[in-house]
Amino acid sequence: MAASISPLRSSYRICNSLSFHHYRAKLRMHRKCESQRRHLHASVTRHAAVVVSGTEMARQIHREIQREVEELVTGGNMRPHLGVVLVGDDPASRTYVRNKTRAASILGRKGISSDTVVKPASVSQDELLELIDKMNRDWKVSGLLVQLPLPGHITERAVCNAIAPEKDVDGFHIVNIGKLCLGQTSMVPATPAAVWEIIRRTGIETVGKNVLVAGRSKNVGLPIAMLLHTDRNHQRPGGDATVTIAHRCTPREQLKELTRLADIVIAAAGVPGLITVDMVKEGAAVIDVGINRVQDRTTGKLRLVGDVDFEGVKEKAGFITPVPGGVGPMTVAMLMKNTVAAARYALTH
Ligand SMILES: NC(=O)c1ccc[n+]([C@@H]2O[C@H](COP(=O)([O-])OP(=O)(O)OC[C@H]3O[C@@H](n4cnc5c(N)ncnc54)[C@H](OP(=O)(O)O)[C@@H]3O)[C@@H](O)[C@H]2O)c1
Repeated sequence: MAASISPLRSSYRICNSLSFHHYRAKLRMHRKCESQRRHLHASVTRHAAVVVSGTEMARQIHREIQREVEELVTGGNMRPHLGVVLVGDDPASRTYVRNKTRAASILGRKGISSDTVVKPASVSQDELLELIDKMNRDWKVSGLLVQLPLPGHITERAVCNAIAPEKDVDGFHIVNIGKLCLGQTSMVPATPAAVWEIIRRTGIETVGKNVLVAGRSKNVGLPIAMLLHTDRNHQRPGGDATVTIAHRCTPREQLKELTRLADIVIAAAGVPGLITVDMVKEGAAVIDVGINRVQDRTTGKLRLVGDVDFEGVKEKAGFITPVPGGVGPMTVAMLMKNTVAAARYALTH
C-alpha cells in the first residue's frame, strides 16, 4: 500500500492548489479502487480446493496389490488370506465386514481371498479367544481381524491382544500400538494408514507444518497424530509435523484458533459440521475421516456426511477429501495392503 500512496503524497506536495480535504478524498478513492482491484484479482485467481478422490486412489492401490499378489503366487506362494470374525448381528458391523470382504473379492482371482466366521452375541470370551488362537496357528490365514465393537461381556483389549501381532491387520494389538508410538515398523491401523497414504500420494508437505487432529481415539485420532508428528528418519518414517490434538473438552473457540493456524486439518471426531469455512486457513489441506448419518433436509432420507462442511470449506482449502469417497475406500484398500504385508511377513519368518 505504501508504494501506491507515495505518488499521491508527492503530487500533494507538488500541486499546492489541492486542499488537504481534496487530497484526503482522493486518497480514499485511490484506496477503494485498489481494494476493489485486489478483490477482483483474488476472485479471478482463487481456485476451489483440489478434491482428492479416495475412490480413485484406492483403485490404484488395488491394482498395485493385484500385481504384488500375482508376483507372490507366480513365485509358488499361497494367495494372501484375510480371516474375519464377526460377533453378533449389529447392522453397522455387518456392513463394515461386508465392505472389507467385498473389497477382497473385487480384487478377483488375482487378489486376496477372505472368509468370515460369524459367532452369536452370546459367545463367551473364552470361546472367542480359543477361535482366535486356532486362527493364529492356521498357516492358511495370513491376516486376522475381529470386528469391533464387541458385546459388553467381552473385554475388547483382551481380544485385540490375543491376535498374533504379525497377523493383526487392524493394528490394534498393544505391541503394534507401542511400535507405532516408537516409530518402529508395525501393522498400522487401516484408517490412519489411509490418511497417511492420501497425504503422501497427494504430495502434501508435512515437515515443519502445523497439523490439527480433531479426535484422539485409540484406533483413529491418536495413531494419525503419531504418524504425522514422528521423525521421518525413524524405522517407520513419520511426518515431522507439529501436531495438536483436540478432543471433546477442547472449547470451540480454541479449536477455531488452532484450526486457523493449521496447514493440515484432520477431522476425526464423528461430529457433523465440526469444521466450517471460517475455521480453515486459505490453502490448507483438509482430510475428513468422520462418517455421520444425518437426515437430509429436503428429502428426509438419511445420508452420509463427514465432520467438515464440505461445500463451504472446499472454496477456501487447497485440498479436501469428500465423504463418501475419501478416507473410507482408502481404509479398505489399506486393510488389503496390510493383509499382503502379513502374508509377506509369514514367508520370511
Ligand atoms: N473413514 C473411515 O474409514 C473411518 C474409520 C473409522 C472411523 N471413522 C469415523 O471417524 C470418526 C471418529 O471415529 P472414532 O472411532 O475415532 O470415534 P470415537 O472413538 O467416538 O472418537 C471420537 C473422538 O472425537 C473426539 N471429539 C468428540 N467431540 C469433539 C469435538 N467437538 N471436538 C474435537 N474432538 C471431539 C472425542 O474426544 P474424547 O476422547 O474426549 O471423547 C474422541 O477422541 C467417526 O465419525 C467414525 O465413524 C471413519
